[in-house]
Amino acid sequence: MSEVQFTYGMNDGETADYDVIVKFVSREDVQEESALWVHPQLDAALRVHVEKGLFKAEAKEVLALPTLGLLPASHVIYVGVAPSDLTTDSLRDAATAAAKAAGRLKANAVQQLLPEAVRLGSSACTPAQAAQSMTEGYALGVFKRKTVKTDDSPRQSTVRSVTFTPADAAGHSPEAEEQWKAGIQRGTVFAAGVVYARDLTNLPGNHLTPELLASEAEVLAGQYGMEIEVLDEWTAAEQGMGGLLGVGQGSANPPRMIVIHYEGAADDKEVWGLIGKGITFDTGGISLKNAEGMQTMICDMAGAASVLGVMRIIGELKPKVNILAVIPSAENMPSDRSYKPGDVLKMMNGTTVEVVNTDAEGRLVLADGLTTAIKRGATKLIDLATLTGAVGVALGNVVTGAVTNNDELLQQVMQASKQSGERIWQLPSFPEYRKQLDSDAADMKNSGGRMGGTITGGLFIGAFAEDRPWVHLDIAATAWLDSERSWEPKGGTGVMVRTLGELLTQEQ
Ligand code: BES
Ligand code: MN
Ligand code: ZN
Repeated sequence: MSEVQFTYGMNDGETADYDVIVKFVSREDVQEESALWVHPQLDAALRVHVEKGLFKAEAKEVLALPTLGLLPASHVIYVGVAPSDLTTDSLRDAATAAAKAAGRLKANAVQQLLPEAVRLGSSACTPAQAAQSMTEGYALGVFKRKTVKTDDSPRQSTVRSVTFTPADAAGHSPEAEEQWKAGIQRGTVFAAGVVYARDLTNLPGNHLTPELLASEAEVLAGQYGMEIEVLDEWTAAEQGMGGLLGVGQGSANPPRMIVIHYEGAADDKEVWGLIGKGITFDTGGISLKNAEGMQTMICDMAGAASVLGVMRIIGELKPKVNILAVIPSAENMPSDRSYKPGDVLKMMNGTTVEVVNTDAEGRLVLADGLTTAIKRGATKLIDLATLTGAVGVALGNVVTGAVTNNDELLQQVMQASKQSGERIWQLPSFPEYRKQLDSDAADMKNSGGRMGGTITGGLFIGAFAEDRPWVHLDIAATAWLDSERSWEPKGGTGVMVRTLGELLTQEQ
């Protein structure tokens, strides 16, 4: 993997050998004539740019100046920040802007100067949080998609190391240094979890079948000494997983139910169930999708990818919690043996479901996923799924949609999302919506139609939560982007890895 080395250190003057120096600046900074930051002549050139309106020091705005031999580094990169807004979000954004600019300049070693308010923290964030978010910003900002191109020319960012250096050399604080080292470590682990999820999400469907996803999970579990079960189609049949089997039956690539067990708190009765939708490709089945854009349906296992990304973080940080990671995985194909509209499936918990649309397959596999988690002792449930196109219609690709049966649990997730900067928005779930799922033929039908599609899709899954607190996160519009946006790349984003990472590793 393209790992960047992060270190925190005082400026070591002569010996320093950086390709670029990064300095955050605000408009107010620039107006302070006397302030000297990087080099008198470079700072003067910066002011000229500001006076001429060529650089406004707006958030994420970048000005790269060649040093022309004034400094050992080839360039100084000024990144705009609002001084009153040094939150984890703005620091992550600024770090990503710097990472991309450094990559464009083919820089290898980056020195990031830290303003005092960032180094020592502020009311907006602690030094550890600043360190974590900036590390994430850099590590995620240099991300490049893995391809299957035969021409293997470099598609990695040139950035290999980032050194965070206090800009105010006077103020050495061992306590802040401790926090910075811890924050860098945490940021590195979090970013690696996200990168892992992105790489899985971007894999083509023929390179990642349910079986291959299961092998991937086995490797991951093995790495961290976690117990794993992979149920094949025969075992799934014995356990009555009618949803998973119904969806998977049209494909030559058989379905799998994957369960990873992590026990970090043996005396704690609480067990988190994380259930990730693992449709390795979604054609829609007999209710076939349009050809236009269908290739992006390789991302229909993004929920599974994010759950595995979270388990990577868990394996590294070993928090004192218990987790069951459940991934129902299938390929949704049309064929002579596919499930069909009008079919009635008997789910693992005994509920019967009339299939009215074979393209509403995610909820069917997830229903058995929830039952699997509950049977193994999960006490609270979070499912992650690229469930509905409707979530993008309602909310765009800026926030993940949430449906819950327990506001308190959702509040916990939302709190974690404030740290991660991955936005979540709750959708209503009034009882009337459930009626859209009433069926003439069975206990429920698998689609409530277009109206409120994200809500009814979520509520279908919630019907399998029994009495457990449950949160559904619909990442259909946020797990895959058509163009990059700050620390999120085009393609798979690994969304919710860091949010759930925060949730499950916070001090209890
Ligand atoms: N995997 C899709 C949802 C999706 C759409 C994910 C766009 C990513 C981008 C899901 O299985 C699906 O097809 N949902 C249907 C539900 C409908 C049939 C009730 C949809 O959104 O149209
Ligand atoms: Mn579908
Ligand atoms: Zn799908």
